[in-house]
Amino acid sequence: MASAIFTLMFLATMVLLQLMAVAQTDGSKPVGASITAKDDAPSWLSSSGEFAFGFRQMVNKDYFLLSIWYEKIPEKTVVWYATGEDPTDDPAVSRGSKVELTADSGLVLTDPQGNRIWSSGGFLGTVSSGVMNDTGNFVLQDRNSDRLWESFTHPTDTLLPTQIMEATGIVSSRRTETNFSLGRFQLRFLDGNLVLNAMNFPTKFAYDAYYTSQTSDDSNSFNSGYQLIFNESGYMYILRRNGQRSYLTEGTVPTDFYHRATLNFDGVFTQYFYPKASSGNRSWSSVWSRPDNICVGMGSGLGSGVCGFNSICDLKADKRPECNCPKGFSLLDQNDKYGSCIPDFELGCRSDGLNSTEDQYDFTELINVDWPTSDYERYRPYTEEECRKSCLNDCLCSVAIFRDGCWKKKLPLSNGRVNTGMNGKAFLKFPKGSGPLDRPPFQRPGEKKKSDTKLITGSVVLGTSVFVNFVLVGTFCLTSSFIYRKKTEKTPEGGSCLETNLRTFSNYDQ
Ligand SMILES: *[C@@H]1O[C@H](CO)[C@@H](O)[C@H](O)[C@H]1NC(C)=O
Ligand SMILES: *[C@@H]1O[C@H](CO)[C@@H](O)[C@H](O)[C@H]1NC(C)=O
Ligand SMILES: *[C@@H]1O[C@H](CO)[C@@H](O)[C@H](O)[C@H]1NC(C)=O
Ligand SMILES: *[C@@H]1O[C@H](CO)[C@@H](O)[C@H](O)[C@H]1NC(C)=O
Ligand SMILES: *[C@@H]1O[C@H](CO)[C@@H](O)[C@H](O)[C@H]1NC(C)=O
Repeated sequence: MASAIFTLMFLATMVLLQLMAVAQTDGSKPVGASITAKDDAPSWLSSSGEFAFGFRQMVNKDYFLLSIWYEKIPEKTVVWYATGEDPTDDPAVSRGSKVELTADSGLVLTDPQGNRIWSSGGFLGTVSSGVMNDTGNFVLQDRNSDRLWESFTHPTDTLLPTQIMEATGIVSSRRTETNFSLGRFQLRFLDGNLVLNAMNFPTKFAYDAYYTSQTSDDSNSFNSGYQLIFNESGYMYILRRNGQRSYLTEGTVPTDFYHRATLNFDGVFTQYFYPKASSGNRSWSSVWSRPDNICVGMGSGLGSGVCGFNSICDLKADKRPECNCPKGFSLLDQNDKYGSCIPDFELGCRSDGLNSTEDQYDFTELINVDWPTSDYERYRPYTEEECRKSCLNDCLCSVAIFRDGCWKKKLPLSNGRVNTGMNGKAFLKFPKGSGPLDRPPFQRPGEKKKSDTKLITGSVVLGTSVFVNFVLVGTFCLTSSFIYRKKTEKTPEGGSCLETNLRTFSNYDQ
């Protein structure tokens, strides 16, 4: 009897395993299937096992990203992810979150308490199964195998061969390589052109394009681009309504490779390939990138540029940008290399009427570095010596560029870049005795060293540095005026710390 039961159980298990194997091989999952985010969570594989759908563990191992990735390569590169209802929120979910395939809402992602975080939704019909296709497309289909929802029509930062981006589509960068929140850059169609542009937060106001495909035809919109096609062999092109193609892919694309096109977090749109064979040099290599030089390509209008304010963009050999603070400046957020830089010293006009003079200030010289916007004055003809003197003696001048005359600039500086074709140089002003070479960097929020606190608070209240003060005001104003008050019972000029700072800032803005 016992052995009969055992045999039955064994058979049942075999049948179950068989069924699971079948489900595995056609990459399909029935309604009701679910995955819970945990260590070694199972994933749903495509029939050949090329792509997987499920939870990828983040750097912080308590967080997981609902995503699709290349299963057969060690990097497990992510090609799609669920962004959450508000894409600016970090889409990483905590341990114990669950994704379930439901009939009416398709994929539903819930947190460990059962609250809905995201769902595929937005379709009419009843889901009967989900299929992880070997193309990397996760498809929800009904009983008749009609497609109700596809990850391919909801791209995140990556396009794959066989994927088409329609005129209404949008590809958005992530925040950083490891942070999948919505980033600053987007790829989309605008009046028949494929464009790349940056935007700001929180309004998502789009800045001028830094790449345009030139596929718009104003005289006849029928000739304009309307689809971005990544064909099965790994060629990407813009299709015009008249059938004409404009290729982004140049030359020939190697076969037997994986292909993807990703809008990188730094704004560069790149097609990559990776050998399928598990021998040799296995890494993603680029086929092409747009724009050709993002540091120079992004150079007008509003916003900080590729890097943060006051930063300098330098193009690396792989056509990706590197951001560096100029000497004497430091990152505002130590953890964000691509963010803004603030001066380690004070600049600006003093409210006591004492102006900038030559013996108070000096320059750091940078060859072929420019911040093409942020100008407030241009002198021409002018010699280099006249240019230097003029900036040194002008308390409003933070930087002078000597190139075809003299350009005087104010902070914050935007669109900083190294440009070897510029044939000019930048003079960055710093106060003598407190300059980058003479004194340890100024203390900033984030690095709270006790012994230096007095120095900062003192200069926030007493000093008239515009930029530094303005940046520091939010963090230090209350504390510093409190400390200061304890000493003197009164803030300088009778005004509140905040007023003083705002007044200084508006002086500077004029
Ligand atoms: C998977 O992709 C292939 C190629 O695009 C397509 O022919 C097939 O119908 C897809 N399967 C499903 C279930 O969508
Ligand atoms: C990712 O970036 C967002 C937006 O900047 C931020 O709120 C979030 O904390 C970041 N996540 C991690 C894990 O650093
Ligand atoms: C993709 O486009 C390239 C270039 O036009 C062409 O040679 C190739 O045959 C196309 N592949 C497919 C599957 O249509
Ligand atoms: C492997 O390929 C990458 C990208 O092409 C390249 O940067 C790297 O130097 C190569 N490594 C070796 C060992 O050839
Ligand atoms: C300070 O500089 C400004 C502009 O250069 C000038 O107009 C003003 O007279 C100067 N003030 C003093 C006190 O030197």
